[in-house]
This record gives sequence, C-alpha cells and structure tokens, in this order.
Amino acid sequence: MAKAENETTAQLLQERIRSRRARVGIVGLGYVGLPLAVEFAKAGFEVTGIDISETKTARINQGESYIGDVATPTIAPLVTAGRLRATTDFSVAQELDTINICVPTPLRKTKDPDMSYVVSASQEIARNFHAGMLIILESTTYPGTTDEVVLPMLQRSGLQVGQDFFLCFSPERVDPGNARYQTANIPKVVGGVTPACTEMGRLFYSQALEKVVPVSSTQVAEMVKLLENTFRMINIGLVNEVAIMCDRMGINVWEVIQAAATKPFGFMPFYPGPGLGGHCIPIDPFYLSWKTKQAGIEARFIELAGYINGQMPHFVVDKVQNALNDVGKPVKGSHIHLFGVAYKKDIEDMRESPALDIMLLLQRRGAIITYSDPHVPLLRTDGLELIAQPEDAAASVDCVVVVTDHSVFDYVRLAGHAKLIVDTRNALKGITGPHIVRL
Ligand SMILES: NC(=O)c1ccc[n+]([C@@H]2O[C@H](COP(=O)([O-])OP(=O)(O)OC[C@H]3O[C@@H](n4cnc5c(N)ncnc54)[C@H](O)[C@@H]3O)[C@@H](O)[C@H]2O)c1
Repeated sequence: MAKAENETTAQLLQERIRSRRARVGIVGLGYVGLPLAVEFAKAGFEVTGIDISETKTARINQGESYIGDVATPTIAPLVTAGRLRATTDFSVAQELDTINICVPTPLRKTKDPDMSYVVSASQEIARNFHAGMLIILESTTYPGTTDEVVLPMLQRSGLQVGQDFFLCFSPERVDPGNARYQTANIPKVVGGVTPACTEMGRLFYSQALEKVVPVSSTQVAEMVKLLENTFRMINIGLVNEVAIMCDRMGINVWEVIQAAATKPFGFMPFYPGPGLGGHCIPIDPFYLSWKTKQAGIEARFIELAGYINGQMPHFVVDKVQNALNDVGKPVKGSHIHLFGVAYKKDIEDMRESPALDIMLLLQRRGAIITYSDPHVPLLRTDGLELIAQPEDAAASVDCVVVVTDHSVFDYVRLAGHAKLIVDTRNALKGITGPHIVRL
C-alpha cells in the first residue's frame, strides 16, 4: 500500500515535469541562477526566482537583466507572459514543485568553506517543505555536502528521500562571457541521493537543457566539479611557473605555448596571466583540500598551484618596477594605468580580480593609479575609489599594464601612443617594440 502511494508521488511529479506544469523555483539569482531560471521559463515552465536582494528581484519583475550573459530583451517577454517572476519571500516554496539552490559558496579568510549561504537557503526551504518536491543543490561545494548538510534538514520533515521527495547535486559549469557555450548547451551532470532522485533530476533538466549526464551519487557529482576546476587551477599554476622560468631565461613563453599547441594529441594549452580571479578557480580547489585534510590527505598539488598563482600579481608588479627602472623612472610617483580590471575578458565581474592586488601593491610602492575598463565604470577596493578613464588616458601616463584583454580595446592604438606597456595577457600579440614588455 505504502509502495503504491510512493510510486504515485514520484509519478505525479514526473507527470508535472513532463507536461511543464511543475512550478520551478530557483534560489539565488546571480550568474548561475538567473540564466538557469531563464532557460526553464523559455522551455515553458512557470519559474519563480527567490533572492535575498530586493534590488535584484525588483529588476527581474521590471523585466530587466543585471547579468551580462542574459539580455534584457530575453527576460522582458518572459516576465510579461507570467513565466518568470522573482521574490524575496521564501514562503512561495510551499507552492513550488522543484527548487535549484544557486547561492554563493565563498571561502572564509582562513580558506575554509563558508557554507552559511547554503545552510540558510536550505533552512528556508525546510521551513516551507512539502511532499513531492525535487531539490537540487548547484552551488559548488565539497563532496558530501548534499548528503551531510542539506539532506538532514529536509529529513526533519519526516518525509522519505527517494520516495516522498527527491534530492540531487548538479554542478554548474557556466562560463560567463562565453558566447558559444551557455547554460542550455553545456552538458549537465546530475547525481541523486537515491537512483529515483537521479532519475528525477535527469528528467527535470532534460526538459530545458540539451544534454544531461546522470552519475551514481551526489558525491560523484560534487567531485566532478572540483576535478574540473582543480584541473584548470593546477594547469594554470604550471604554466605560470613556466612563464617565470622563461622570463629568467629570456624565452617568449607565448611563442612556446603556441608551438606546443600544434601537437594534435596529449597537450592542451593553458596561458599564464596576472593571477587567478573569479568565483570559481581561485576558490573551489580549497573546498576539496579542506575536505581531504579531514581524511588525513594533504592536497599538495592544490597548495603548490595556489602558492604560484598567488605570486603572479607580485611578479607583475616586479616587472612593472623593472620596466620603469630601465627607462630611468622610479615606481614611486610614477603614473601607472591599468588596461582592464575585470577578472577576465569581456565581462564585468571583479570578484577576486588580480587587478585589485596589482593596484594595491603598486599603490603601496608609491605609484599613482588609474584604469580603463568599459565593463567596470567604477571601482571600489580597500582605500581606493576610482572612476574608469577613457582608453586614450594611456597616452599620458608613465606605464600601462594590460591586466584584462577585453576585445573592445584598440591595442594597435595603445602600442602607438603609450610610452611603456607591460602586457600580462599577450594582448599585443604580433606587435613589437622596445616599449612593450611581455609576461
Ligand atoms: N559565476 C560562475 O561563473 C560560476 C560557475 C560555476 C559555478 N558557480 C557556483 O555557483 C554558485 C553561485 O555563484 P554565482 O556566481 O551565481 O553567485 P552570485 O553571487 O552571482 O549569485 C548568488 C545569489 O544568491 C543570492 N543569495 C545569497 N544568499 C541567499 C539566500 N540565503 N537565499 C536566497 N538568495 C541568496 C545573492 O543575493 C545572489 O544574488 C557558487 O557556488 C559558485 O561557486 C559559479
């Protein structure tokens, strides 16, 4: 008897998902949550976004986007059609069938995971929980979080996972600024607490996304994300170290990588730069090392790559100082202009941007700092508040540092009028001159 009832709960939810009548909720409407909400609304679902930010929810309800990868003309018709709305009121969860949790997972100053956002979002869901729900955690986190942190909160309802409700982890792989791969066409990995949970997650995502990749558990799904980002962080660490070696030996590292990348197998190019940035690569691997430390395993590759990548802003500042010395100018009192400050090209995101470290280090050495970045009109950081200058400001300064290689910058013009350029991204590829210094 109980089995028949349980089957009915699962079947009912499956039917609601297949017919697009399931009411979809997305908690956290940031770089991850908003594009996901839009995909489900586009697929014909009624989507409710829940965020603690009144500014964000108000802007969505006015049909406006605040995320570069989601255009306002995409959002506005969905809001008008009643397929997308946003609220700060968690009690709407009582009417929802599915909830994806897309809240931040930063690090504390001690490099330990800060789970407070996941915990507080899960507590709110637990308060408004009911039978027949599918809950999916998408925030990047250490293996075990879904089963050890989220599941116990939902189980306090007395409901049975895999029968009365369904719980999964699905890593988010969004790459802001990537025009080719966006939420809809990036394959989606999903793992549930039970096989029935995995199947519910697979069915849900396959309504709106092109390809779904089910895995056997939440821990596997959590580890997939950490492997992907750790792979990236360590390879960037390796290539940054190679860049430092090449610098000492007077070899052009960019030319080395370009030639190595002609090998049709067994090599994948990574590029050096001024340091790691963003919400993922500098942070996620430390979620893994924190967890493995508890199991008595030291994540040595991660710690080493973290150290090398963390040195890069210092390396860049030393290069600037040396370049100025070579033209007989001390860094103290010199006017240094950063070209690009966002953590990567063609986006506005400043989180963990190495530009912030470079600015502060140069300022500490007595330099006067300005910047140009069409994506970042205003910059506030410890003790600094700056307004973006036009690109041509580069003509009248002592040294320009290309920190972010935005596509809109005119590098030929820059090379033509700047006195001295330190290029950390090879943005001036193909342009040479005694006034151009490369990483
Ligand atoms: N940005 C990326 O490129 C990216 C890529 C892959 C994975 N991720 C992961 O996805 C997660 C979200 O990242 P993001 O970049 O979208 O972050 P974000 O800061 O852009 O968005 C998070 C949103 O959650 C809201 N929020 C915070 N606490 C909340 C709560 N208790 N209830 C409801 N809303 C709450 C915030 O107001 C914000 O709007 C993180 O775990 C991140 O590591 C991010």
